[in-house]
Amino acid sequence: VKAAVFASGNGSNFEAIMKHEKLACDVVLLVCDKPGASVIEKASSYSVQTFVLNPEDFESKGKYEEEILIKLEQEGVEWIFLAGYMRIAGETLLHAYERKIMNIHPSLLPAFPGKDAIGQAFRAGVAVTGVTVHFIDEGVDTGPIIAQEQVEIFPEDTEELLKIRIQKVEHVLYPTVINSILLSDKME
Ligand code: GRF
Repeated sequence: VKAAVFASGNGSNFEAIMKHEKLACDVVLLVCDKPGASVIEKASSYSVQTFVLNPEDFESKGKYEEEILIKLEQEGVEWIFLAGYMRIAGETLLHAYERKIMNIHPSLLPAFPGKDAIGQAFRAGVAVTGVTVHFIDEGVDTGPIIAQEQVEIFPEDTEELLKIRIQKVEHVLYPTVINSILLSDKME
């Protein structure tokens, strides 16, 4: 089974997926909307083909996603994993990949959706936050939840330390959930 990762930034989750020893799919493509993002270099170090497009070069989200869709179809991509992809998927992608697009988010959704979820939780002073893997829909970090893992916030915590612990959890949880969903999909 072939998959694509969509990312906009650093790519630590991309790397965690690539490093997983027995991933149940082949990541054949990185789609990136930010020319110059660090994840692009990471992809070449894993010999993963990159497809970099700047949404500003397109007249609409629909046109931008149509271009991506053509590439995904050419490469035979069946699954999409969003890993720090800082855009809301539009109708074009959602329709073509219904229930085939997962996302990872650094909070216990539905709490703290959107940007800076770690900072939001930290400032809110909650004792527990965490990580969510979910299928996407047309909303911002909404869509059916697949798995969640809690991360405690300690009284003496800093946002930086919390972020490190959350990312550690992400890097194990995401590839694990990807594998279990792909395997159960295969059984159906
Ligand atoms: C992760 O915290 C992920 O949950 C969120 O964006 C961040 C991406 O980090 N959606 P990285 O680019 O994978 O390092």
